[in-house]
Amino acid sequence: MDHPRILVQLDSDPHSSVFDAVVAVDSEIDHLLQYADVEPTNARGLVHGAMFTRGPAQLRHTAIFIGGSNVAVGEAIAREVQQSFFGPVRVSVMLDGNGSNTTAAAAVLCAARHVELGETDALVLGGTGPVGQRVARLLLGQGAKVRLASRDLARATAACRQIETQMGKNYDQTLTAVGFADDRSAEEHLAAVTAVFGCGAAGTTLLNAAQMQLGANIQVAIDLNAVPPEGLAGIAATDKAVERQGRIDYGAIGVGGLKMKIHREAIKTLFTRNDLFLDAEEIFEIGQNLEAARA
Ligand SMILES: NC(=O)c1ccc[n+]([C@@H]2O[C@H](COP(=O)([O-])OP(=O)(O)OC[C@H]3O[C@@H](n4cnc5c(N)ncnc54)[C@H](OP(=O)(O)O)[C@@H]3O)[C@@H](O)[C@H]2O)c1
Repeated sequence: MDHPRILVQLDSDPHSSVFDAVVAVDSEIDHLLQYADVEPTNARGLVHGAMFTRGPAQLRHTAIFIGGSNVAVGEAIAREVQQSFFGPVRVSVMLDGNGSNTTAAAAVLCAARHVELGETDALVLGGTGPVGQRVARLLLGQGAKVRLASRDLARATAACRQIETQMGKNYDQTLTAVGFADDRSAEEHLAAVTAVFGCGAAGTTLLNAAQMQLGANIQVAIDLNAVPPEGLAGIAATDKAVERQGRIDYGAIGVGGLKMKIHREAIKTLFTRNDLFLDAEEIFEIGQNLEAARA
């Protein structure tokens, strides 16, 4: 018997994400089982239902997607899910709370179309949020130098430490915490970098038009905010590799096409084995393969 592909969607919000559900349905699954209001403490029972219902050879036909708008809760659910497995009795898992992993992967891969990441000095504005931290993580993984910026230096420093803990690595040569609060910050950092990523909260301006002028060496600028006003002044949400002032610009919708492709491909990948855990780095690698196939 051919076992249908079942995706179990675990979401910490009161209503599980429609966005994630639509992408799942578009990713060649057969059944979507949706669970809302999931907490780390009740994830184990749900996981047992997924792992004890099919024989070992069939477990790759069941997989778990963890989403939800609270990324930290999603991460806690993911830890609980992983601790629920034992030996070969497991199913593959994808973590993409609030789209943070797929969005960060797509943003970094859009930049990689235009610059050599290993030679890039990047400024990640809004770097303390889930997307910004992942953008920083992925850039560091590719050998880039990263300035992780927050309006508050202490928050930037805490985010840098958190990245080092997550990656089990010290990035003291390549990762710098930046307090980015005013024109002086812009003067200090913008001329020194070759790429800028706007990862601030929706509808917030991170760089105004005058500050954008200071980035004379910036080769690629990516603004992930889709809600007016622009996060990086002058970059439209629909920009996709638009040449402007000597740079290549992407807006949130311009990055979105690749993000959607990566999300769908990651869901399909879940069903190739029963022991995958797809977090930012693994999802980025799936995106790299898509980009290589496109070239
Ligand atoms: N295209 C997509 O599918 C997609 C998916 C997910 C997210 N996104 C977008 O990606 C961006 C980042 O997402 P996220 O969830 O990581 O964002 P977030 O957590 O809401 O915010 C990120 C950071 O923005 C900074 N911030 C908050 N209010 C600000 C203000 N008024 N002015 C300047 N900075 C402010 C905060 O950093 P500090 O307080 O440390 O300065 C915060 O940590 C958002 O614009 C989001 O809409 C797009």
